[in-house]
Amino acid sequence: MASNKTLLMLPGDGIGPEVCNQVRRVVDWMAKRRAVNFDIKDGLVGGACYDVHKQAVTDETMQDAMDADAVLFGAVGGPQYDNVERHARPEAGLLRLRKEMDLFANLRPAVTFDALLDASTLKPEVIQGLDIMIVRELTAGVYFGEPRGMQVYEGVERCVDTQAYTKAEVERVAEVAFDLARKRNSKVHSVEKANVMETGVFWRKTVTALHESGGYSDIELQHMYADNCAMQLVRNPKQFDVIVTDNLFGDLLSDAAAMCTGSLGMLPSASLGAVDEFGRRKALYEPVHGSAPDIAGQDLANPSAMMLSFAMTLRYSFDLQEDADLIENAVQMAMKSGKRTGDIMADGCEQVGTTGFGDAIIRALDEQAA
Ligand code: IPM
Ligand code: MN
Repeated sequence: MASNKTLLMLPGDGIGPEVCNQVRRVVDWMAKRRAVNFDIKDGLVGGACYDVHKQAVTDETMQDAMDADAVLFGAVGGPQYDNVERHARPEAGLLRLRKEMDLFANLRPAVTFDALLDASTLKPEVIQGLDIMIVRELTAGVYFGEPRGMQVYEGVERCVDTQAYTKAEVERVAEVAFDLARKRNSKVHSVEKANVMETGVFWRKTVTALHESGGYSDIELQHMYADNCAMQLVRNPKQFDVIVTDNLFGDLLSDAAAMCTGSLGMLPSASLGAVDEFGRRKALYEPVHGSAPDIAGQDLANPSAMMLSFAMTLRYSFDLQEDADLIENAVQMAMKSGKRTGDIMADGCEQVGTTGFGDAIIRALDEQAA
């Protein structure tokens, strides 16, 4: 008998635990109604781990993450950790997971939900039908480049961060972007600052060479400066299909793209490693919204992004496309039923809490399976 699929659940801080709890309900539903079984192991990360172990993630949890088929990550951070040393801060746990699991490709879809058209600050016609995939490089660039920190240079104290990319690091993330584009609308925008940065010139050259010699002539490739991309995202976001960019630009542009949709509480993400000889890849799935400490523990958080992150888990780690569809549809159906959490509340809808929206999702799953 095939062994169960293993998930490591790292709820973390703020609203992380409560949105993860709604996913647990769906995991139970899948076991009962779809005969898809997961073994869930739990771990501490971020401030929750710091409170107990004075570090943001332990070696044991790192090992569990390496061994799991997929990691489901809630959120980390909170104001009570603002003065903790950098290496032990909540964010350090997430950065260590990304780096040591070598999760170099961060997929951040920005999709507009019809039911939420009015939630965006952009005009409905600008964002209706929007479906962008941002592929952010996640394990290199200025987030990890050396040297970093304080130095004394020619007698003057200064501080440096280093932006560095190897050819292989650019190629592997560009490949992910091209492969994804092929399953979508076959268009990739590669984004950097080649007008100013040496790494930008190198990025552009490397992506161009891969496009020409890597068998990607069916994909339309365009290069764009990062500042222009930021502008184009709010001017006419529908011109984009797949955007591939470095770690820091990806951090900024994915927040901008997310806000085009008007609903941060709806957006999932996947961070993927390389495919190994057995076809398996390390993976971590997390909502884009973060820990939202101001509303934590009050049954106010929207569990949709976490739910959709679980749908991405089914898609990318387990190739369970039908089951992923069920969950994505259930989130849509829950919204159409008129139930809304506070962040996406609209006239004529009924405001519900995290659990209430979870109830609506489970009901929608039942309806589909009936
Ligand atoms: C993100 C976050 C992280 C990042 C922080 C929490 C370290 O902003 O996932 O986008 O900067 O990558
Ligand atoms: Mn960010």
